Amino acid sequence: MTFALQPHYPLQALNTFGIAARADFFAELDALADLPDLLATPQAQQGPVVWLGGGSNLLLTGDVAGLVVRMALKGIRLLKEEHDSVIVEAAAGENWHSFVRHTLEAGWYGLENLSLIPGTVGASPVQNIGAYGVEVKDCIEEVVTAELDHGGRERILTNAECRFGYRDSVFKHEAAGRLLVTAVRFKLSRTPRLITAYGDIDGELSRMGISHPTPLDVSAAVMRIRSSKLPDPAKLGNAGSFFKNPIVDSDVAEALLQRYPKLVNYPAGAGKTKLAAGWMIDQAGLKGYRDGDAAVHERQALVLVNHGSASGADIVRLAEHIRSVVRERYGVELECEPVVL
Ligand code: EPU
Repeated sequence: MTFALQPHYPLQALNTFGIAARADFFAELDALADLPDLLATPQAQQGPVVWLGGGSNLLLTGDVAGLVVRMALKGIRLLKEEHDSVIVEAAAGENWHSFVRHTLEAGWYGLENLSLIPGTVGASPVQNIGAYGVEVKDCIEEVVTAELDHGGRERILTNAECRFGYRDSVFKHEAAGRLLVTAVRFKLSRTPRLITAYGDIDGELSRMGISHPTPLDVSAAVMRIRSSKLPDPAKLGNAGSFFKNPIVDSDVAEALLQRYPKLVNYPAGAGKTKLAAGWMIDQAGLKGYRDGDAAVHERQALVLVNHGSASGADIVRLAEHIRSVVRERYGVELECEPVVL
């Protein structure tokens, strides 16, 4: 047994919002073999356990009663090589961006648009992370999980069984608290199939003087775009986009577009339209809005930031203000993206 249960443990360095809070007990899981023992501890039995990845999609609104476990499982291995593709498995605790760079440098393509997303590999399928026209589900073959009610018994889910949606999966619903992601198996291509028309990737590549981009070039362009808009959590606490882009019936979107012809929107399947929440918040005059140390980021209105000593409650109050302004002005409900504990 290599884990230690540490009481009254500070979590400020373990959540990218930089919120000061404590866990009654804390442990780090760095070997899968330890999971059954960990699950058998009285602290885990009393449950529910909070499983932490990079803490980059989390808002702590107070101390956490009970056990918090940081997933620190490491390892990347090539499971299968085919003519044009590979299956590569990465353990849940691997840093997402380091893993993406590792794949690109190995000549395994598909994740380049998802460069520089904070967090861990294990969190990536839970909210089906996405950026610049790609979602992680596009490259996931299988997700390896541990059944928490059965002492950590292994259960492997196919892509279809994960029921991926926009920032959504089975791990946020029926499997929440029951299946713990321990590793993810990706199917990556040896042939680049670049998606550069989305966002400003093409524009950024031409500013970089690149006319025939490689996947590593696309990764570099995405990194430049993200760094120019999104705050670095090491410098300014945040959890990425705080709200999901709302998906509404297309007739609702049509009516809104009559009033706001510039409202940025995207088709979202039959009869549905996705609206850019960042645009709506920005146009409502809230970009840069500050309430104490809780604020709307100055360069991306979908991102809320902690200027230093904001509490989780301060961020929640700011989020409620934004939701009510957006509801009043556009008649649209915004849904929080991070997990609020
Ligand atoms: N916009 C504004 N003002 C703002 C912010 C955005 O006018 O303050 C406009 C932009 O000009 C653009 C549109 O709104 O026309 C969309 O903005 P952007 O491309 O920055 O992306 P987003 O919809 O705000 C989503 C993801 C991001 C992902 C980007 C890029 C969600 C919730 N967020 O943001 O993901 O990086 O697209 O693909 O879907 C995250 O989930 O944490 C995240 C950062």
